[in-house]
Parts: sequence; C-alpha cells; structure tokens
Amino acid sequence: MDPNADTPKLLRTLAGETAERPPIWLMRQAGRYLPEYRALRATTPDFISFCLDPVKAAEATLQPMRRFPLDASIVFADILLIPRALGQEVWFEAGEGPKLGALPEINALTDHIERVAEALSPVGETLSRVRAALEPERTLLGFAGAPWTVLTYMLEGGSSDRTAARTAAYADPERIDALLEVLVEATWRYLAMQVQAGAQALVLFESWAEGLSEEMFQRLVTKPHQKLINRLRQSGVEAPVIGFPRGAGALVEGYAADVAVQGVALDTQASAELGRRIQATGRTIQGALDPLLLRAGGPALMARVETLLEQWGDGPYIFNLGHGVLPDTPVSHVEQVIARVTGK
Ligand code: CP3
Repeated sequence: MDPNADTPKLLRTLAGETAERPPIWLMRQAGRYLPEYRALRATTPDFISFCLDPVKAAEATLQPMRRFPLDASIVFADILLIPRALGQEVWFEAGEGPKLGALPEINALTDHIERVAEALSPVGETLSRVRAALEPERTLLGFAGAPWTVLTYMLEGGSSDRTAARTAAYADPERIDALLEVLVEATWRYLAMQVQAGAQALVLFESWAEGLSEEMFQRLVTKPHQKLINRLRQSGVEAPVIGFPRGAGALVEGYAADVAVQGVALDTQASAELGRRIQATGRTIQGALDPLLLRAGGPALMARVETLLEQWGDGPYIFNLGHGVLPDTPVSHVEQVIARVTGK
C-alpha cells in the first residue's frame, strides 16, 4: 500500500510524486464560458462586491467542480483585491476591464498592511465554505497576484502594455522597490490567511513577467517571490506554492532554480525540453495547453493533449493551460480535455 494514497493527487504531485495520471485543473475554470456563472454574476453587477460575497463566490468556485471531475478548485477572487485592501480605489467597467484610482502615497499604503488579512476575510470565508463542500480528494487552491504584476495595475491605473511601469522601474528604482516591498508584506499576510481558512496549496500569478531583461527580472520578479516565500515559511505556512511567471521565456529556468516554489507553471510557449529540464531539477511543472486551441477544439486540440501527456507525463506534472480559459470557449471542449486526462 502506498502510504500517501490518501493525499490528494495534486498535493502528491507537488511533493514530487509522479501519480498514475497527471492531476488537472484549469486557470479561470470558473467564469464567463459557463452559462451558470453568467446567470449568477448577473445577480451582483459590481464585480468587487461579487468577489467579496462569500456565498456567491463559493458558488462560482464550485460551479466547474460540479460539472467536471477536476482535481483542484481555485477560490473565486481577483488579484486586484490587494490594491483595494491597501486603500487604492478599484472598479471594473463592463467591456473595459479593471480601473484603479490614483496611487496613494507609500506611507498611506503601508498603514494598511497589518489590516489586509482582516479586510479580505470574506475571501477566507469563501475558502472555508468551499472546503466544507468539496470532496477530500480534491485540492483547494488559494492565490494572489505576484507583487510586480499587481504593481503594474496600481501604477498604470488598469490593464496596459506596462510601458509606464517598466520605465518607472528604471527611472525611479527606490520608489518601485519600496512599493514592491509593501506588496510583499501585504501579500504573504493575505496568503497565510487563506491557508488558515482552508487553502491547501497557493498559486502566485506573475502574469506580466514578459519583456524584462535578466537584471530586471531578478529585481522585479525573482527577489520579491523569494522574500514572499521566506515570509510565508517564517510564519509557519507550509502549503506548497506554484509560481507562474508568465512570459518569462528562457528566464523561467533561472526562476525555477532561484525561487523555492514546489511547482512552476509554464506558459503556452514552453518547449518540451524546457519542461523536462525543470522537472529534472526536482520541481513539479504545470501547463501549458494554449487557451486558443482549447477554444478552437477538434482533432488538433486532442492531438496536443496527447503530446503534452506524453512529453511531461512521466515526471511530476499538473495538466493545465498556458493561461486562462477564454470567455467564448465551448464548454464541450473543456469537458473533452478533462475526460481525456482523468479517464472519467
Ligand atoms: O477560476 C478562476 O480562476 C477564478 C478566479 C480568478 C479571477 N481572476 C476571476 C475573474 C483568478 C485566479 C483571477 C486572477 C487574475 N485577475 C489575474 C491573473 C491571472 C491571469 O489571467 O493572468 C489577473 C491579471 C487579473 C486581473 C483581472 N481580473 C483582469 C485584467 C480582468 C478583466 C479581464 C477579464 O477577463 O474580464 C479581471 C476580471 C475577472 N477576474 C473576471 C473573472 C471571472 C471577469 C469579470 C466578470 O466576470 O465580469
């Protein structure tokens, strides 16, 4: 008998085990491609209020779990709840995405750090509700945006090409590093609260790791991730962490070597060899099906699923996308992929 047989597949995989088949979950597995999500979402037009309503957020989290035999559930929330908890105004405009108000002074942001976990306690309540409803073999994931990615939204006032944020990182390094420090301090507290509330593993979304030189990547991505994970471990949080430096390209190998994450999520561009080299260093990998291919469907989709299972499946591997499910993805394509990977 395998002594770890009772440990959920995803947690075993993050511990370095190669399970009988890879566990699967999908980034943005809850959301607009599901008709039941659109119906629920219409009951609370304000997106932030929806995220901070534990009954509705738990329901949105569980919707894909009812439909599909997924191995993990990711709490329904958003990476922009952190700037809001730090005192910056955040709202969503239909069809336009996120908008943020003027960035407060660093001292004003710092004053909020100690109260971030309390301000975001509704996310903790969502996690507790989901954990109570979820079967024990399915893992519950908490998450946060990584400091640099969240800072790009805070500096730019919304979605952008990050030009202003990257320029500021060169032109005003003391201020940018101080802002990253504020985000490290806020984010580890938020993640520790999520673990206390029931999250069993954590995802750190660095959605905008692209376009950085090696030196800037070290400073804006690697260092803040290292600090954040050190702070989590020092505070006694043992939950495994999956880091997702999306767009890091060739720098992802250095990331995997330098940051003490248990899992490294790979984006759509990652080659078979790159993934295998990271597995060989003792890290679990996750990814990297193209969300556009999931949307397109057909034989090309299923052929790519076979390739991914073949190229990475004999090492520690979590099946996932290279980025989030797109809103206009047919549910039947999602169903087909999950059925192939799980055999259910
Ligand atoms: O299943 C899940 O993954 C649900 C939880 C989740 C959401 N956002 C819900 C959401 C997660 C993990 C996120 C992370 C997130 N949010 C990231 C990192 C991952 C990535 O995609 O790169 C980022 C960059 C954001 C910021 C954000 N939130 C943007 C840019 C937008 C607008 C674009 C869009 O997709 O509409 C959001 C809104 C958002 N977050 C929606 C959902 C379901 C859509 C809003 C709606 O339902 O009206």
